[in-house]
Amino acid sequence: MARIGIFDSGVGGLTVQRALLEAVPGADTIYLGDTARVPYGTKSAATVTAYSIRNARVLQERGIDLLVVACNTASAVALPALRAALPVPVLGVVEPGARAAAAASRSGRIGVIGTAGTIGSGAYQAAILALRADALVVARACPLFVPLAEEGWTDPDDEVVRGVVRRYLDPLAAERIDTLVLGCTHYPLLKAAIAAALPGVRLVDSAETVAAEVAALLPGLAGRTSTHQFLVTDTPEKFLAVAGRFLGRPVDSAEHVDV
Ligand code: DGL
Repeated sequence: MARIGIFDSGVGGLTVQRALLEAVPGADTIYLGDTARVPYGTKSAATVTAYSIRNARVLQERGIDLLVVACNTASAVALPALRAALPVPVLGVVEPGARAAAAASRSGRIGVIGTAGTIGSGAYQAAILALRADALVVARACPLFVPLAEEGWTDPDDEVVRGVVRRYLDPLAAERIDTLVLGCTHYPLLKAAIAAALPGVRLVDSAETVAAEVAALLPGLAGRTSTHQFLVTDTPEKFLAVAGRFLGRPVDSAEHVDV
């Protein structure tokens, strides 16, 4: 038996859980969305670290064998503190995403997009350069992508979506990047619009890479019937209204926890 704890600032980490359910279908999961304190992307590293430790403790109390930090901002700023605080393995999304980008890029011209907190931390930039010293990393915060995804405004033919996406991404196209890391839980929902703005550029979704790493850590679960539990720190209604879109399957109930 294996139970994976997953947390994110809110609903976006369900894109990571979606990849996990595909890669490790036999594992039990418990997901915590810190919906009372979202967003993390605009907050200081100290605040995000304190919130992350609290979330991890809630999951630890429920019993987990592995923690996946689905939030890119928390992965970028709080991973060392989480690893020091927890007795179980802790995986973030930054290193797997950086590894996939370093491997995928031919020219070494790699773009990274994320929240202001993620880009400001320099974590992706450092992780890519540690793997590929020849890389040119062009990083850009795209803060309006999160509310667009939350509102379900993701249609690449929508003029507002197209305009916002091009405003952020045209400078990356001008840098002739050949690979782009989607360094935020919400950005996979905008994949079609991002791909339309950057034709020919490889898009790296760290959700898929971290899921492959978890699958390698938890072999032999195939065929097992798994259970999935959802916790939220604000009232469940809003989470339940949008969770299915992020997870790609219905989410019927979520338990409120007080942090
Ligand atoms: N989950 C955050 C991330 O991946 C995005 C939303 C937020 O700002 O909290 O960085």
